[in-house]
Amino acid sequence: MRRIITYGTFDLLHYGHINLLRRAKEYGDYLIVALSTDEFNWDSKQKKCYFTYEKRKQLLEAIRYVDLVIPENNWEQKVNDIKEYHIDTFVMGDDWKGKFDYLRDDTDAEVIYLPRTPEISTTRIKQDLGIVNRQ
Ligand code: CTP
Repeated sequence: MRRIITYGTFDLLHYGHINLLRRAKEYGDYLIVALSTDEFNWDSKQKKCYFTYEKRKQLLEAIRYVDLVIPENNWEQKVNDIKEYHIDTFVMGDDWKGKFDYLRDDTDAEVIYLPRTPEISTTRIKQDLGIVNRQ
């Protein structure tokens, strides 16, 4: 069984997210999503989520491509996750291109950046609807 992992916030789930998850799943049989917690989003990315972690997790778990959702609590956990879950392929959108190349040296996983779906993002939805980041 080939295992894949990807990381993200997936707030206000949209078709760009679904496209990413569908293409990620094509690399194997079992897709794990490490979902940024509300605390990690706020402390490290200054992002206030519209949906709580539990709601975002429920939505992801309802997607047919997703087999398991685990929390992303910090930037440093990736090497450990890849080893613990016996991951073959690490996938991210290409807005992160190059940022995680070190995982090729630090783990046995292959690292793949997929092209983002154009013209959609959580930020754009929030901007269009006039939702601002505040705590
Ligand atoms: N993603 C994508 N295409 C999009 C938007 C997101 O492929 N149009 C991918 C990202 O590259 C990432 C994953 O989906 O691998 C989760 O991204 P996330 O940051 O949660 O979504 P964004 O919509 O980019 O959110 P934000 O605007 O807050 O950065």
